[in-house]
Amino acid sequence: MYDLILKKRNGENLSKEEIYFIVKEFTNGNIPDYQMSAFLMAVYFSGMASKEITDFTIAMADSGEKIDLSTITGFKIDKHSTGGVGDKTTLVLAPLVAACGGKIAKMSGCCLGHTGGTIDKFESIPGFNTALTKEQFIENVNKIGIAIMRQTEQIVPADKLIYALRDVTATVDSIPLIAASIMSKKLASGSDGIILDVKTGNGAFMRKYEDAKKLAEVMVDIGGNAGRKTTAIITDMNQPLGYAVGNSIEVKEAIDTLNGTGPRDLMELCIELGGEMLLIFGLAKNNKEGKEKIINAIINGSGLKKFKELIKAQGGNPLVVENPSLLPQCKEKIEIKSEKSGYIKNINTCSIGIASQILGAGRKTRNDKIDLSVGIYLKKKISDKVIKGETIAVFHTDGNENKINEAKERFLNTYKINNKKINPPKLILAKVTKNKASNHI
Ligand code: URA
Repeated sequence: MYDLILKKRNGENLSKEEIYFIVKEFTNGNIPDYQMSAFLMAVYFSGMASKEITDFTIAMADSGEKIDLSTITGFKIDKHSTGGVGDKTTLVLAPLVAACGGKIAKMSGCCLGHTGGTIDKFESIPGFNTALTKEQFIENVNKIGIAIMRQTEQIVPADKLIYALRDVTATVDSIPLIAASIMSKKLASGSDGIILDVKTGNGAFMRKYEDAKKLAEVMVDIGGNAGRKTTAIITDMNQPLGYAVGNSIEVKEAIDTLNGTGPRDLMELCIELGGEMLLIFGLAKNNKEGKEKIINAIINGSGLKKFKELIKAQGGNPLVVENPSLLPQCKEKIEIKSEKSGYIKNINTCSIGIASQILGAGRKTRNDKIDLSVGIYLKKKISDKVIKGETIAVFHTDGNENKINEAKERFLNTYKINNKKINPPKLILAKVTKNKASNHI
């Protein structure tokens, strides 16, 4: 290990055998944390070549259980978002694509973010079970074209161990390490194709566009090298996606979107990603035809019907679709008023995420319990006109004064208001396919 740290520290490339040695022996407990930390820091400063990153990713994917989806007929696609505030895209996109004939085998990890992850959002639906066995997962995809499963502990154990070290050694924000961490879990989940939604902006992990583009390129490169059809779309996260930020309130917004009455930005993103997925599946000749099919699945209600089938197949109550008041409801709603008149110029997306976490919608540590009923419902977004005293957001709370006051404090100054109207930010920024980033739309 000393020689390999030295080699990486000096900027040399490691062979596949050397990388496998590091990942396997660290996972088995034979390399001490101090040496692995030094190695991660060497990667942080020296980077990794394309082949090294792919080898590292595959070695991580090989460190644990891999899901074999070969008994599901046809091509399977997994979707991943690098995470943002109000991101309920999967809840809308997955049923729409499945309604158009695509096979969605979606595995999601547990989320530490400002609001819950996709799994928490699905689990807001009374009875919905994401702890499927592999057999149930495969059976459901075969039967109805879609299944959502909580990632098991056995998937990529190397990532858990390496991430824990990165977290305490200031090596989280290394593009090769992030890309390997995300893609190892996608490779182990067994799909043939991967669609990545890489967010950029003040509510995203990758704040700068250039970093998001680089991360997208590296992940697409890994996917391609590992034999998976991979496309990334880079999207704006300078304001929450849609209006709802929380868990059950995001499910309600997802249902509205499947009904065709959702927020414009969420609709646009689902249509874009859905069109691209149908293209990868070979179910559309081009992105335009793919998008038309997705729009049709909204108009003819087949996406919503598929969502109900999914809920039923996973033990949930499908009546939430007609009656969203069956979703967990908060105790008390509190209106937040604007202190100024003008036009919304800027939103501190991260602060909205933190405020909703304070209300109880997200976890600070892995074992925190979240309150599925709470969150923040925005009334205004960038470019909207607002009048002093008008409600700009509604806190959905459990009535706890301390939490409400702390969240309010966080929320103050979240909106920057100007006299001049500006245009809303462009949502879809670029598409990245193997070795190519193109400005898009
Ligand atoms: N998400 C992951 O899964 N891994 C990282 O390293 C960063 C974000």
